[in-house]
Amino acid sequence: MNAAVDVFKGNDVAGKEAAGSRLESLNAWVAQVVALTQPDQVHWCDGSESEHANLVAAMQADGTLLPLNRETHPHSWLHRSHPGDVARVEHLTFVCTPDRDEAGPNNHWMDPVAAHAKMDALFAGCMRGRTLYVVPYCMGPIDSPLARCGVEITDSPYVVVNMRLMTRMGAPALARIEREGLDRAVRGQAGDTYVKGLHSTGDLDPERRFIMHFPHELTIKSFGSGYGGNALLGKKCHALRIASHQARQEGWLAEHMLIVGIENPHGQTHYIAAAFPSACGKTNLAMLIPPEGYRQAGWKVWTVGDDICWMRRGQDGRLYAINPEAGFFGVAPGTSDSSNPNALATISHHTIFTNVAVTDDQEPWWEGLDGRTPALDWQGRPYSPEQGPAAHPNSRFTVSARQCPSYSARAEDPQGVPISAIVFGGRRASLVPLVMQARDWTHGVLMGAAMGSETTAAATGAVGVMRRDPMAMKPFCGYNFADYFAHWLSFDTADARLPEVFHVNWFRKDADGKFLWPGFGENLRVLQWMLARVEGRARATETPVGWLPTADDLELEGAGVSAAAMAELLQFDPEGWREEVEALGAYLDEFGERMPPTLKAEQQRILRALSE
Ligand code: GTP
Ligand code: MN
Ligand code: MN
Repeated sequence: MNAAVDVFKGNDVAGKEAAGSRLESLNAWVAQVVALTQPDQVHWCDGSESEHANLVAAMQADGTLLPLNRETHPHSWLHRSHPGDVARVEHLTFVCTPDRDEAGPNNHWMDPVAAHAKMDALFAGCMRGRTLYVVPYCMGPIDSPLARCGVEITDSPYVVVNMRLMTRMGAPALARIEREGLDRAVRGQAGDTYVKGLHSTGDLDPERRFIMHFPHELTIKSFGSGYGGNALLGKKCHALRIASHQARQEGWLAEHMLIVGIENPHGQTHYIAAAFPSACGKTNLAMLIPPEGYRQAGWKVWTVGDDICWMRRGQDGRLYAINPEAGFFGVAPGTSDSSNPNALATISHHTIFTNVAVTDDQEPWWEGLDGRTPALDWQGRPYSPEQGPAAHPNSRFTVSARQCPSYSARAEDPQGVPISAIVFGGRRASLVPLVMQARDWTHGVLMGAAMGSETTAAATGAVGVMRRDPMAMKPFCGYNFADYFAHWLSFDTADARLPEVFHVNWFRKDADGKFLWPGFGENLRVLQWMLARVEGRARATETPVGWLPTADDLELEGAGVSAAAMAELLQFDPEGWREEVEALGAYLDEFGERMPPTLKAEQQRILRALSE
């Protein structure tokens, strides 16, 4: 250990003495990391206003944060990441379980012993000249039995200020961790309940970048990236990869889903959880603004979460969900007053923008925002269209969920909200109808397993290629998909009152490549039909692939969709589906014997019905 550093009395960025923890095991882990990484200073984060102000001032002084226009965007900052560090790195992301099959063909795997050795070699001495921050955080309302805690150690002050927006970070989280730890000690239970995450930006060399997960040890090691999904360890690493593993052991679900409340004119609210792959509209649906006629009639939409959902069975047999996050880390491009006014209002102050462009009066700007031309692109170069988009396509905003005008009063409910419907969806130009309902839970699980999204012309490579992304969890499931589907199936017990399961496709295109469905606010029409189905009030027609509405079953007045377009959106094509369900069978077979027979039987049942 660096002799100059006392772990618990390091010079604090605020100039006051830093605290340690009342939990010896936490102190011991921090001491061990200090010895390995050799920081100049250690700072235990309390999440206070003054701590935040000090961090921001230091980052402004060294250029990590650039000020934005104070009049139009008070307390907001721009961060430009390294141009080679702008997205999640799936090929460098590993799940390290003792048994390779436990991680499954859906994950990159490395032996835990080898992985620790590799990572510890990278971490050795990596914080020399830097400050090590100890960041205690809680995923979920601080007093919720569904919430789980973690401690991230990082050398990035940018990570600290983002974690403060995205999680319940600081003193209250540490207090919960200590309480749980001391309770366990009293009861003589071994081991810690909080997730240990170690992160360093390293030298940002992509050759020396890895994101490693050790689910059995509740441990994450992330090196060489400062990008959100790789560096804010509470989000994808903890709340999805580690939590999905933990959820399986403990009998709950950790999902890549938004949670939204739909209030009807009678004041009744149903909650929906929906899984769409990245960039397929979760944040948009979570903040939906009802069409004019619906608003006048009294429909309201309440945002609980836009990315992650933790669900468990309640005493009444229903599934109850919390949003483990406290903020939004949303895609900026395409966010505008017409596409997502709630998001735009949310990010009007106290927001960190990463890799967006700026106008000549220092306002943040991205493609799709408005008709202005920016002055500087995301790399800080004078904007010129030949150099590509002004804002990076994966540029993001980080903001507290509390600033969202549609933020639900139930979002902080420690017991969570009861889920009436689970919705799966993807980007499919053809075949998959606007909406369909599963026959039962098993069929619903198969619908989720069958999820896929097509690559678009915007990306290099073949267009319209289907990429499988079961339940939108391909990049995030911390264990073998076959076991994951079995876990989903296990919720179907005699006394369960499970949500209805639906599948949607907002992205169906006509022969000219134009979207057939207007989407965004108009999606409420589809949600309305779903909730009427939940209440047993709406009609539908049975097909081998599920229950479909006809145009007459949907409220379409004012939607501006032609009868011909509606017919196409709700058409059932048996021949196309036969190919689709056959391909699904081949996909399920990739998991071999481990795939639950129930799911395979369901696929076979549908295939037979399609061949009749
Ligand atoms: P992550 O945050 O990366 O997990 O993704 P997300 O699912 O939150 O994606 P987001 O809501 O940011 O997706 C945005 C993209 O989907 C943009 O290109 C939107 O224009 C598009 N989009 C969202 N809703 C709709 C819709 O109803 N119809 C159409 N056609 N496009 C939509
Ligand atoms: Mn999102
Ligand atoms: Mn996501």
